[in-house]
Amino acid sequence: MAFSSSSSLIALALLLSLSVSSVTSTSKFDELFQPYWAADHFSFDGDAVNMKLDNFSGAGFSSKSKYMFGKVNVQIKLVEGDSAGTVTAFYMSSDGPKHHEFDFEFLGNTTGEPYIVQTNVYVNGVGNREQRLNLWFDPTKDFHTYSILWNQRQVVFLVDETPIRVHSNLEHKGIPFPKDQAMGVYSSIWNADDWATQGGRVKTDWTHAPFVASYRSFEINGCECPVSTADSDNAKRCATSGGWWDQPILSELNVHQSHQLIWVRANHMIYDYCSDAGRFPSVPVECEHHRH
Ligand SMILES: *[C@@H]1O[C@H](CO)[C@@H](O)[C@H](O)[C@H]1NC(C)=O
Ligand SMILES: *[C@@H]1O[C@H](CO)[C@@H](O)[C@H](O)[C@H]1NC(C)=O
Repeated sequence: MAFSSSSSLIALALLLSLSVSSVTSTSKFDELFQPYWAADHFSFDGDAVNMKLDNFSGAGFSSKSKYMFGKVNVQIKLVEGDSAGTVTAFYMSSDGPKHHEFDFEFLGNTTGEPYIVQTNVYVNGVGNREQRLNLWFDPTKDFHTYSILWNQRQVVFLVDETPIRVHSNLEHKGIPFPKDQAMGVYSSIWNADDWATQGGRVKTDWTHAPFVASYRSFEINGCECPVSTADSDNAKRCATSGGWWDQPILSELNVHQSHQLIWVRANHMIYDYCSDAGRFPSVPVECEHHRH
């Protein structure tokens, strides 16, 4: 291969350095995750990974490994403008009919109307534990950090390190707590206009497609579970490995975090399954023990 001039060499060097830097900035995504749905609906832009929904397909990515306990952080910038009918989810889940799942679901809205953040917890295959809140910022303007902290005492959902939900271990009251199955980390965007926006009344306007959610700053800091190892062995190892997530200080919210959660619930919560008497004539058993 011959080069006709030094300027093309410089251009080539520039190109190479550009591609190298974009490789390093998304390497964390490649190291931890892979597209599992519609790889052709992904694009990589500097340190951001974009996933799009159009009238042909949604898209999703999953972690390459599974984990038991730890913390997952990802920064997300939700669909800008008209996102009505779309749902973007970020969640952890195990496999099988008795799976556990910790969900963030971001329900889109028409331009200028607020997104709703719905969280849910599935234990042994059963969910129906929805909470909904609006946010104290516009999640479509900038990247914000969404996290799940999971240890043997609690599951905490955090937005920019502010706890928005705690699911506590109440096994001493006979209530099962998810701590025996390794979980993957997932995100997806899809069309859910049968329920997502204003109860399904507002449909996806495909003339506004593609709907793009952007991600960056992927972090998983937990007890990694080889797929070849049985859950019971992983559970034993991950529960006794002395991981940072088992420090006593992380067994419940600290005072500052408790105040933050009270503030979120007082100012931003719009739905809590625990107080939905129409749906649950007798209060779900774990709600009786909620201390907030
Ligand atoms: C969308 O906006 C409307 C009007 O402000 C609001 O009632 C609704 O809760 C918002 N979110 C969703 C997901 O429907
Ligand atoms: C998808 O949307 C585009 C843009 O609105 C439109 O041109 C196209 O016909 C649609 N295709 C299908 C399969 O609905």
